[in-house]
Amino acid sequence: MELSSRPATPDDAGAMYQVIAAGEQDWHGQVDAIPDQVAADLRRPGLNPERDTLVVHAENGDLAGWVWLHLGKRAQVAVHPSYRGLGIGTMLLDWIEARSHEAGSDWVAQTVDDADKAGTDLLRSRGYEVLATNWLLVRSIDVPAARELSAGIRLGAYDPARAHEVHELVEDAFSAFQSRRKSFEEWGQLTVERPSFLPEVSTLAYAGDELVGAVLALDLPDSGEGYVEQLAVRADQRNKGIARAMLDQTCAEFARLGRDSCILWTHSGTGALAMYEHLGMHVRRSTTVYRASV
Ligand SMILES: CC(C)(COP(=O)(O)OP(=O)(O)OC[C@H]1O[C@@H](n2cnc3c(N)ncnc32)[C@H](O)[C@@H]1OP(=O)(O)O)[C@@H](O)C(=O)NCCC(=O)NCCS
Repeated sequence: MELSSRPATPDDAGAMYQVIAAGEQDWHGQVDAIPDQVAADLRRPGLNPERDTLVVHAENGDLAGWVWLHLGKRAQVAVHPSYRGLGIGTMLLDWIEARSHEAGSDWVAQTVDDADKAGTDLLRSRGYEVLATNWLLVRSIDVPAARELSAGIRLGAYDPARAHEVHELVEDAFSAFQSRRKSFEEWGQLTVERPSFLPEVSTLAYAGDELVGAVLALDLPDSGEGYVEQLAVRADQRNKGIARAMLDQTCAEFARLGRDSCILWTHSGTGALAMYEHLGMHVRRSTTVYRASV
């Protein structure tokens, strides 16, 4: 089959998302990815679409696969289920490794759906090693209301006037597990600046006037599910039930929108899986982060 490739443009983001959605539908019978995900990734500071992306089209104009690489280190690849087995994944992996090397990086990582046997085999055959696991957790919203919050803690909806504090709080909370702190701009592009961001469903927690916790929610339309993108509690305020209360509040807001369950991704590096299971969530599926030297 004749295939052609070129860098992606922002106009490709919708079709690129459809490739992710087709893969998830094929492997899992449902789609959990947020429709504006690719658009948000392509807008990240440090990602130059002309240099850091490739889209592969079939002769009939179908988008068969694509890749982006951020800062020479983090890649995402997707191949449409109808175009598997044609060597597109191998070609995109060759491109990633060459581009990563060219960018001066000595390693590259990518996340692969655990249902993607061909992708997993390809990475393993090329010497990639497991770096981490991500779990997609789900919780039905009819869980009984949690106990009272500690004295002095109050909850409210997301307040754009506190955006910089939310950014600091989230990046501080994740600093123990992330290799790189995101700038306010990058964090915003991936969260509160997205069209899918739901400020009224998101929850902030305060001790007095100080921000001590945040849950940021995104819209996953037509799925009946609510999506939590980030959850963090300031280190000195943990184990007081703040995460539990914020999650309950966000899930209750999703229930008001007619959603009957809440989903979120958690990374093995955070150690939070046990907490979510304790809060009545269960694992729906997982992905693996693979890394190799280049
Ligand atoms: C994970 C995090 C949000 C928890 O916040 P928190 O306010 O301390 O959590 P809560 O006090 O509401 O805890 C709720 C329940 O889970 C339990 N719990 C909390 N952390 C836990 C953990 N790591 N493992 C197991 N159970 C845990 C608590 O004991 C509590 O149980 P209880 O209600 O029966 O007493 C916080 O530690 C954090 O911000 N970590 C860094 C960022 C992060 O990991 N975010 C989540 C990953 S996506």
